[in-house]
Amino acid sequence: FQPKFLAGLKLLVTAGPTFERIDAVRGITNSSSGKMGYAIARAAFEAGAEVTLISGPTMLPTPTGVRRIDTVSAQDMLAAVNGEITHQDIFVSVAAVADYYVLNPSEQKIKKDAHILTLELAPNPDILANVASVANPPFCVGFAAESENLLEFAEAKRRRKKLPLLVANLVQTAIGADDNEVILLDDDGQHRLPRANKSDLARSIVKHMARLYNRYHPE
Ligand code: C5P
Repeated sequence: FQPKFLAGLKLLVTAGPTFERIDAVRGITNSSSGKMGYAIARAAFEAGAEVTLISGPTMLPTPTGVRRIDTVSAQDMLAAVNGEITHQDIFVSVAAVADYYVLNPSEQKIKKDAHILTLELAPNPDILANVASVANPPFCVGFAAESENLLEFAEAKRRRKKLPLLVANLVQTAIGADDNEVILLDDDGQHRLPRANKSDLARSIVKHMARLYNRYHPE
């Protein structure tokens, strides 16, 4: 039995890393398997939502019932999000978006030699902060992976990006693993979810999200 917490709602989720091209074969990316974002997409579909998943490069199969759009770079992901965001009720940003892109990627494979190679990097747009700052934004949920000062950094991020809900985890316990341990941060404070596999965690996160969404959008 799976209660349909999100029946009638449209939910957009980003997942996985982004990949920023250096040349024909190389690039800059982040450590992210995509497992958490895909688990959120699956749990939201089980909870009755109409789910669109915008994914960076991953090896994962598309969850049943979920519409998936594949992207590579942060700019691609931003364009895909912008193309889908109108009419969404909820936006869950799980993707580990690369913070920088390479200013002048090479069409050809760069040949190695004994010299120092310098890459010029420019900051990528913050997809979630963009979505959360429009007039009448969807209900926005962020993720934050920190390696230290987890709660302090995560709460600062939640406020800066204007998010009703942020899911905080330590990178040491989260990346690539099948299970995880997270703390939910919202206007009521902290809610610690016990260590569990990412599917069960995703169900708990979706349940909490639905409860908050209903509080912000009473019938
Ligand atoms: O990278 P950061 O720790 O700021 O990520 C926090 C949240 O912001 C995550 O939900 C992530 O998906 C989102 N984000 C984004 N675009 C970026 C950087 C982060 O949507 N360029």
